[in-house]
Amino acid sequence: MKNTRILLTGASGFLGGELFNLLSTTNEVTGICHRPDARFRAVDLREPAQIKKLLDDVQPDVVIHSAAYRKPDECEQHPEACRRLNVQPLETFRNCFPMPGKLVFVSTDYVFDGRNPPYTEDDPCCAVNVYGQSKVDAETIVRQRKNSVIVRVPLLVGTEPEEDGHLSALYRQIKSGEECQIDHCGIRHPTWACDAARAIAFLLEKDATGIFHYCNPETLTKYEMAVSVANTLGLPHDHIKPLLKPLPITAPRPVDSSLDCTKINELGFTHTMPFAEVVRLCAPDFR
Ligand SMILES: NC(=O)c1ccc[n+]([C@@H]2O[C@H](COP(=O)([O-])OP(=O)(O)OC[C@H]3O[C@@H](n4cnc5c(N)ncnc54)[C@H](OP(=O)(O)O)[C@@H]3O)[C@@H](O)[C@H]2O)c1
Repeated sequence: MKNTRILLTGASGFLGGELFNLLSTTNEVTGICHRPDARFRAVDLREPAQIKKLLDDVQPDVVIHSAAYRKPDECEQHPEACRRLNVQPLETFRNCFPMPGKLVFVSTDYVFDGRNPPYTEDDPCCAVNVYGQSKVDAETIVRQRKNSVIVRVPLLVGTEPEEDGHLSALYRQIKSGEECQIDHCGIRHPTWACDAARAIAFLLEKDATGIFHYCNPETLTKYEMAVSVANTLGLPHDHIKPLLKPLPITAPRPVDSSLDCTKINELGFTHTMPFAEVVRLCAPDFR
């Protein structure tokens, strides 16, 4: 895809940062942040008037909406704030972004309850927490637009902009040497954020519409991720123990919301970086 005018929300975030780097080499990308960041334009997406002005100024061919409150426990505690960012802006984009512009929405495997995996794009949504339900509601709005793509991705790993990234958190627990338990119940498919960005770019290249799933096919619990991080970096991990009962957390999580990726695979996107390789590549950033 070349010379396309793209408006990218969440450009200062984890996945958005990867999308910005990937797409801006050949396209004109306007990246949006919330907190001031010299590389991007600061906009409060909870304000419909600011979105309308943004669309007027940029006149994009494509809008990629990657901004979100994505921490399930915080969303559970602040459901209204969650809806204002995760749902409300989609109404403004649907109503004010002129056709035939393409709207790309980044969603999650948490739209499913985890009782009947793996999930295809045709399976009905059934979220178990506020975050997942906000994504279900946003998807409903996006689906009302003809030229739109919904890309559901699972737990993302890589070089996260914030210190509380999944890999850095596991690394800190391993390095501390203190005995601790890590969840060994929830099934995860830790997927490199770079690969998720490539999958989205691929769908844009193919001019695809509709819903697509993308994830790393490897199955790991958080405990197995920790062991893999330790082994890859040659660190001892005897102090890390598997936790075999659900964690006492604020927001319930689906136990296994594995995504069936046949649809994107058959369209020609099969690339996935193995988890241990992602750890090796990103270690200089999180250790
Ligand atoms: N990370 C994962 O494991 C994961 C898994 C499944 C799905 N997803 C989905 O993937 C997408 C990207 O996630 P991510 O991990 O990249 O998120 P992230 O790192 O938390 O980034 C969130 C982005 O939203 C922006 N934002 C927050 N409040 C805003 C506001 N009021 N107005 C405008 N922008 C605002 C932030 O801007 P500032 O930086 O300026 O605050 C940041 O750019 C989300 O839709 C998420 O639901 C993520």
